[in-house]
Amino acid sequence: MANTNLSQAKNAKNDEFYTQYHDIEKEVNAYIEYNPDVFEGKTILLPCDDPEWSNFTKYFAQNFEKFKLKKLISTSYAVESKKYNDGYQTTLFEKRNPNFDKKKTRIKGKIFTLTKDKTGDGRIDINDLDWQYMEGDGDFRSKEVKKLRDDADIIITNPPFSLFREFIAWIVEAKKQFLIIGNMNAITYKEVFPLIKENKLWLGATNFNRGMYFRVSDDFVYASTYKFERGQNGAKVNRVPGVCWFTNLDHGRRHQTVPLMTIRDNLKYHNKMKDKKSYDNYDNYDAIEVSLADSIPSDYKGVMGVPISFLDKYSPEQFEILGATQRGCHDEVPDTKRYDDYWEVRQNGKKTGSSGNKTNENANLVGNDGKKNYFINKDGKIIQAAYQRIFIRHKK
Ligand SMILES: C[S@@+](CC[C@H](N)C(=O)[O-])C[C@H]1O[C@@H](n2cnc3c(N)ncnc32)[C@H](O)[C@@H]1O
Repeated sequence: MANTNLSQAKNAKNDEFYTQYHDIEKEVNAYIEYNPDVFEGKTILLPCDDPEWSNFTKYFAQNFEKFKLKKLISTSYAVESKKYNDGYQTTLFEKRNPNFDKKKTRIKGKIFTLTKDKTGDGRIDINDLDWQYMEGDGDFRSKEVKKLRDDADIIITNPPFSLFREFIAWIVEAKKQFLIIGNMNAITYKEVFPLIKENKLWLGATNFNRGMYFRVSDDFVYASTYKFERGQNGAKVNRVPGVCWFTNLDHGRRHQTVPLMTIRDNLKYHNKMKDKKSYDNYDNYDAIEVSLADSIPSDYKGVMGVPISFLDKYSPEQFEILGATQRGCHDEVPDTKRYDDYWEVRQNGKKTGSSGNKTNENANLVGNDGKKNYFINKDGKIIQAAYQRIFIRHKK
């Protein structure tokens, strides 16, 4: 129970990570470069956004004219509804504003809207934002925000990490265009992977291998193992690994094909392949193991299992995605074997007590790498699971 509370508290804290301006700018530039009119005449909704803090609001308000937007709406979540709200203070902006209401400030969401040059200075920008308290607390699942969603063309935000599944389902149900930040683990969620497979959702343009730095509150406490930068551009930051953008807006990177070597050249020249005689076949799938995206052979006609980081390089013109290991996501690449009569063993030879059922639907390779747990059957056959894999094939 104590552990559950601890992890809930940690999740709630992780929900209060704020995206940096340059990360938004870098990503959005890729869409503008690909299609300069991508936002023209559009209503953009930025939910889950704390507009007084948010760089999303700042960025789109400042670029309102350049992007030829029709309307920008940004909503925030009431502080009393947040699971983690230590250190929250009402901004001076709100306190000094004629709309300020002591009774509403902590329990109502806020909505910021931008449509026209309110100040009369000849341009539409952040100074023209109108705001008011919402009827409710600004929960994206509320009727009030759902209505805003339904009226918008594009939804852009970094949603609460702990509600990512719900958030993506919320967007997909409304069939909207979107650009959102999430963890790469979400790639294999049952709500997400089928969309990736059908090319209805893809990764954004920013490479996710580097991780992303988010602004955190002054009282944020770093994990004892944290060894990255703690400050950037005068703000306290925390690096989150494996974060990426998910979108259905098109960008140029996904139409660039990756240059590849043949099987022969990979086995001769690729650092990680040159000690091998051939690519390994999985024991339970009719596919070969390709443990690094840059060692995908150009001339293999069959199915290949690749790490999920492959999606950073995925171009639908070059490859088709057939499925992923686990979660029943691979109808087109069926299991050829199950391991219920195997048992799991540690490297010290001791059984863990788990049966081979645990490794069904993993991409399993024959042999023991001497590093991780393995599975063995009564005949002494040993197999080990590769990490999560995506099944792909060259586009014909
Ligand atoms: C990861 S932060 C990102 C904030 C901002 N979008 C940004 O990137 O700078 C997610 C925000 O969503 C808020 N939030 C949490 N649960 C929410 C909900 N159910 N509905 C709306 N917002 C929520 C959090 O309080 C937090 O402010």
